Amino acid sequence: MPRGLERLDRETLVGWLRETDPAELERLWSRADRVRAAHVGDAVHLRGLVEISNHCVRDCLYCGIRAHSPGLARYRMAAGEILECAREAKRLGYGTVVLQSGEDPGLTRAFVSGVIRAIKSETGLAVTLGLGERTDDELAAWKADGADRFLLRFETSDPALYRRIHPSLPGAPSDRVAQLRRMRAMGYEIGSGVMVGIPGQTWDILARDVETIRDLDSDMVGIGPFLPSPRAPLGGSGAGTLRAPADEQVPNDELTTLKVVALTRLACPEANLPSTTALATIDPASGRELGLTRGANVVMPNLTPSRYRVLYEIYPGKAGLHETADVGHAVLERRIAAIGRHAGTGPGARGR
Ligand code: 5AD
Repeated sequence: MPRGLERLDRETLVGWLRETDPAELERLWSRADRVRAAHVGDAVHLRGLVEISNHCVRDCLYCGIRAHSPGLARYRMAAGEILECAREAKRLGYGTVVLQSGEDPGLTRAFVSGVIRAIKSETGLAVTLGLGERTDDELAAWKADGADRFLLRFETSDPALYRRIHPSLPGAPSDRVAQLRRMRAMGYEIGSGVMVGIPGQTWDILARDVETIRDLDSDMVGIGPFLPSPRAPLGGSGAGTLRAPADEQVPNDELTTLKVVALTRLACPEANLPSTTALATIDPASGRELGLTRGANVVMPNLTPSRYRVLYEIYPGKAGLHETADVGHAVLERRIAAIGRHAGTGPGARGR
């Protein structure tokens, strides 16, 4: 019996995630692409990504820039350097600059405020923050300074798995979904998302992740495959102990990631969905395009100066690691045109 695409309840989601029949999958891809075209159009919004600090106080078991990453040189960009990257984003015609970092208390409330104000007044770009778990005071202040959006993937909707891979700081229980809801109430557009194939992630958990993304009414959703980092416990033998039984463990592969992208488009027709760097890393030849033709409508070109970019190693072999902003931009424009799409203009807020 053909599988439904109208009502995506838990069972239907699990069925699609486990689907292997090429003809059925073709239906999923074409529906996701049609829904993408109908709701967010053919523009591919480009967000200039600036990785402003790789300091991090957390010890997430999957991440290469975790606090205990062995021998990693740390950097924190100066305000002037960040502003220079924002000017570059403006020059390249991007509508948004994304400031991303580890969870770094050295990026103080006042410092980030100054950066946001400078970017807003000089470039007028939309400002997206991805600075990890921060206090409500900081978040409210940055909103008042002009920040528009905040990205915080909740990584998994399963509380036990979350606790295992994402240690809390002493006295500060980690609850990313709660922070997302509070940021929404403050007026941020919110971005959530998960990794696909983290050890211990079952099909049922992944289906619940899609439901959580839908329940949060996420404006943006980042989805990429989990890529093992030799700098993190889950990159080595540590992964084995966490893995679910063979038939239940979700693989960290391209096909499964694309299914999650497509299902997320059906669950959140208006959302901005990036074709992620992790997807481009796992399939340098066509990962970006496959994401964009199976539900995604955003790409985040990396504008971080290369001396810093090589140190923002959340996983190895990141796509575009050694590209300059200009070359990366030219390549991207060609690839977007080759699939019959065009670069978006303006800030590219949700549903536009
Ligand atoms: N593989 C893939 N994605 C990762 N991230 C962190 N570590 C890895 C990894 N090893 C993702 C997380 C985080 C985002 C910025 O990068 O989902 O939220």
